[in-house]
Amino acid sequence: MRIPFKTRILRLFGVLPTKTDRRIASLLKLMTLDEKIGQLNQISGNLATGPVSDRETNLFKIASEGKAGSFLNIKSVEHTKALQEAAMLSRMKIPLLFALDVIHGYKTTFPIPLAEAASWDMEAVELSARIAAVEASASGIHWTFAPMVDITRDPRWGRVMEGAGEDPCLGGKVARARVKGFQGKGLGATDALIACAKHFAAYGAAVGGREYDSADMSLRMLWETYLPPFKAALDAGVATFMNGFNDLNGIPATGSRYLQRDILKGRWGFEGFVVSDWASIKEMVNHGYASNSSDAAQKAFTAGNDMDMAGECYLENLSELVKKKKISMRMIDEAVERILRKKFEMGLFDDPFRFCDSQREQEALCNPEHREAARQMAEKCIVLLKNEKDILPLNRSLKIALIGPLVKSKKDMLGAWSIDWPEHSDTVTLYEALEKRVTDSSMLMYAQGCGISDDTSEGFIEAIDVANQADVVVVSIGEKSDMSGEARSRSDIHLPGVQEDLVMALCATGKPVIVLIHAGRPLIFNRISDRAPAILYTWWLGSEAGNAIANVLFGDYNPSGKLPITFPRSEGQIPVYYNHFNTGRPIPEGHTGETEYTTGYIDISNSPKFPFGYGLSYTSFAYENLKLSTTSMKENQKIQVSFDLKNTGSRTGEEIVQLYIRDRVASVVRPVKELKDFKKIKLKPGECKCLEFTIDEEMLSFYNDKLQWVAEPGSFDIMIGTSSADIRLADILEFK
Ligand code: BGC
Repeated sequence: MRIPFKTRILRLFGVLPTKTDRRIASLLKLMTLDEKIGQLNQISGNLATGPVSDRETNLFKIASEGKAGSFLNIKSVEHTKALQEAAMLSRMKIPLLFALDVIHGYKTTFPIPLAEAASWDMEAVELSARIAAVEASASGIHWTFAPMVDITRDPRWGRVMEGAGEDPCLGGKVARARVKGFQGKGLGATDALIACAKHFAAYGAAVGGREYDSADMSLRMLWETYLPPFKAALDAGVATFMNGFNDLNGIPATGSRYLQRDILKGRWGFEGFVVSDWASIKEMVNHGYASNSSDAAQKAFTAGNDMDMAGECYLENLSELVKKKKISMRMIDEAVERILRKKFEMGLFDDPFRFCDSQREQEALCNPEHREAARQMAEKCIVLLKNEKDILPLNRSLKIALIGPLVKSKKDMLGAWSIDWPEHSDTVTLYEALEKRVTDSSMLMYAQGCGISDDTSEGFIEAIDVANQADVVVVSIGEKSDMSGEARSRSDIHLPGVQEDLVMALCATGKPVIVLIHAGRPLIFNRISDRAPAILYTWWLGSEAGNAIANVLFGDYNPSGKLPITFPRSEGQIPVYYNHFNTGRPIPEGHTGETEYTTGYIDISNSPKFPFGYGLSYTSFAYENLKLSTTSMKENQKIQVSFDLKNTGSRTGEEIVQLYIRDRVASVVRPVKELKDFKKIKLKPGECKCLEFTIDEEMLSFYNDKLQWVAEPGSFDIMIGTSSADIRLADILEFK
């Protein structure tokens, strides 16, 4: 039936109820209070990702009694279908939502999110999330707890691996790409996953980099640095938000009315629903913000938290709170309505089993195209930190000594938050990948050297012996997959164990040593970076790690990744980030050591070991001919910044060109530079392209001391760089 134009317009403005509105309203009329509370409850399956309670564990009973609206940590068509069948035995037959932390791939594991951010390739990031959604949705999953869009300036925080690093502009673009990838053509498509922007908000600023700890900051800092990626996710249509374990300025995020009702559902007009983090409602008692579980339920609920994950605090208390008139039925209905709407949008009321096709599951999980995309993504994430005398790429005729504790590791290539399959036999190790590429097996030798956390150098002798027989040494070191991730904060972020000593011993042989560092965070490895001629930072790259690294080692792929987060020289520098203020006594430009009465340390330079935006290529690029379409810009005007980028080396390569802006004088102090845009460009040797950025008023704007978003008249530095610390072209723009 054709819907008349007038009806459509009225619906668009919310004047007329849609069919879904009417269906939700009639459901709400039929549901008892307990059934409504059931919808607000999320229960974990057996794969716990947090502390477990000793409550009812008969999931089928819970589902058939309508005591849960959603389950997390259940995967596969077989299991989700069985529970959905149980839900269909409940009085109201409301379908369940199945949620899982699909963070970087499902069966095909993609690089960790921090690594993907290092690609600065938004199409690839979107494709990675798309493939994760295709696989997970075919396996009965409806909802992923991703993307984590927390900005962090603290590499000690274990969850740094799960986000996009330190920058709000890059973080916002990654958030958008991942939401688009997960949600695909929109909820309702059978290959779309509901995305979830988490952890709202400021969790990445946990004090001391300690998991679950407090965040305390000015509102200006919150709005300027920590909220933009959430807003970007919202603008991309993200359907759910998760709050966080942290308190923000003394109020637990889970109980924050300011974050959830005022900003998210109020000012931003978010129409989806908010889920708590794992038992974070109950944990408000530990915070000292709620006196007991009932108080916690009341505070979280009135603050705007719709669904309770794994805490059963709503199940225990909401009914009583309604009876005592501490929570109104209207508020309960509003939260239930938000959740039911997503179930309608997913098409689950029309067919609760539409994600339960085992043939489709089988095909999606064994799709070779997904592996190919995972390899390509992994190649793009690798960052070349050092390459003295163009030692890389390697010539195929060289005899290689492959040394280190991660050479043959499978699980550690995948990293934290990879989905637990009975075994990871399909992960390609470095050893397997190199073995395939050498012409005869005598060209590849192996020694482990040491374990990741070993404190003994017993294995060094064998490693040195193997190195001495080779032309070149490739050493693979880093973190185990459980050294970064949730509850994996580290106070010491140097390479664990004796791994750095192993590399130094190998360097002492006089053989050229290429170091591969696999990790979930920026690590500190100063001795290696000063001594080894070549270093590739490979993060945790997923199922195709070995193949991607081998392709970079042999030059089949020219590395193009750049750091999405600053690498410190010492833990004592943390937080160290590129978009800091200048202070009244800045260290003079270009000065790397101690200077009297300036902002710095007496024992170490302020500069990081590797700056934000840094990464080398096997080729080189020249930046020339900067032109501003005008050097004087008025309100609402847009101007163009153009320049020529030339590949001056002998290989085809990609460069990530970065646009930074500094507001020289403003009503509040502004950072020394802020990333505003970037482009990734591929050029053949000798090829030159004219590139252009558009600058608009938004890019000159900031939050003033009244938290108004303003662009103030004055002078702005327009900088084009190859990293935040290497600005190649600059000019001044006057904003009138
Ligand atoms: C994490 C969330 C995650 C949830 C479910 C929590 O401990 O903080 O990010 O989505 O567990 O696994």
